[in-house]
Amino acid sequence: MIELRAFEPADAEELIAWVTGPEALVTWSGNSGFTWPLRAEQLAAFHASDPSRRALMAVAAGGAPVGHFMLRTEPPGRSVRLGMVLVSPEVRGRGVGRAMLEAALGAAFAEPAVQEVNLGVYTRNEGAARLYERLGFRRGHTEPRATRVGGEWWPSTTMTLPRATWRPHRPAGR
Ligand SMILES: CC(C)(COP(=O)(O)OP(=O)(O)OC[C@H]1O[C@@H](n2cnc3c(N)ncnc32)[C@H](O)[C@@H]1OP(=O)(O)O)[C@@H](O)C(=O)NCCC(=O)NCCS
Repeated sequence: MIELRAFEPADAEELIAWVTGPEALVTWSGNSGFTWPLRAEQLAAFHASDPSRRALMAVAAGGAPVGHFMLRTEPPGRSVRLGMVLVSPEVRGRGVGRAMLEAALGAAFAEPAVQEVNLGVYTRNEGAARLYERLGFRRGHTEPRATRVGGEWWPSTTMTLPRATWRPHRPAGR
């Protein structure tokens, strides 16, 4: 059972520990401007620079943080950008990411004006893209030169989930 709560400054060190190297930092945060090694001050400055971003933590039963993501409502309010999706390396591959993203979509579509959720995923991150597809996202445009990492361009694909094709998840027993 996964629950969501707002990111707090006290979560920063744990979150930073989940980002295990420079490539993992780009995979997670894209062109957000973070530099390796990631530090709490970078996160604080990032959050302060745009209060329209909602940073959320996924916590397991017992309250242990297991995941993180961000939602940002894009003007004029019909679409929400999902980003900075991350699950603790210790619990990956056990369904946490899926459960967290189902809850994230519930939070995004809770606002009636929101008609779609979109995101960007590097083409090399095929596992994440397949997870998004299983949640109903469809692949759109691929930007071949999205981010330059160590002399190589990483292409990125936009994925979109319209409200009309979103299938809300209802946890068993509810
Ligand atoms: C992507 C991520 C959030 C998925 O979280 P997770 O808890 O491992 O995902 P789940 O256990 O819910 O996996 C859901 C499904 O996706 C598959 N999957 C997830 N990540 C995968 C990967 N890297 N490679 C292959 N398959 C993957 C799982 O096999 C699983 O498939 P199944 O439902 O058929 O069993 C996690 O791997 C992560 O934090 N990665 C690093 C950061 C990142 O890539 N973020 C996304 C940026 S767009």
